[in-house]
Amino acid sequence: MHRSGSDTAISSASDSAVASFDPELAAAAKLAAQQAYAPFSQFYVGCAIRSQRGAVYRGCNVENSAYPLGGCAERHAIAAGVQAEGPDFRIADLVVLAFDREQQAQQAAPCGGCRQQIFELGPDARVNFIANDAPRCLHIGELLPFGFRL
Ligand code: THU
Repeated sequence: MHRSGSDTAISSASDSAVASFDPELAAAAKLAAQQAYAPFSQFYVGCAIRSQRGAVYRGCNVENSAYPLGGCAERHAIAAGVQAEGPDFRIADLVVLAFDREQQAQQAAPCGGCRQQIFELGPDARVNFIANDAPRCLHIGELLPFGFRL
């Protein structure tokens, strides 16, 4: 991360990118990241989803001593939406934010597996994240062309 040389003005480009997202979803994603269990990576990820019905759900990453068992923030937010709305739950907008242990925003595009999970329940989802210190908003079809469907 780029950090200011000054002790007082520590605000990275990623921090200002956060401010450009939908404020309700950004606040929910940040809260979720603060609830993350990430003792191994110390990479705290939060995801907030607005469903097509207009409700907001959030999820955080949850790691495990058996590393492959850890789960991403996006899929936990999706699980919260399915639990609340059932099989008709669909993602309209999604924000994923990541922070280091000093709560500085970090870049984090959804991983490949999460893109497939987002596609399943949000084939028209708008996905917001930070890459190269800039805010991005992409249709899931841009992030995952030819997503898998049964
Ligand atoms: N992680 C997410 O929560 N979402 C992603 O899309 C990428 C990675 C988490 C998993 C792990 O706990 C940490 O970030 C470092 O990989």
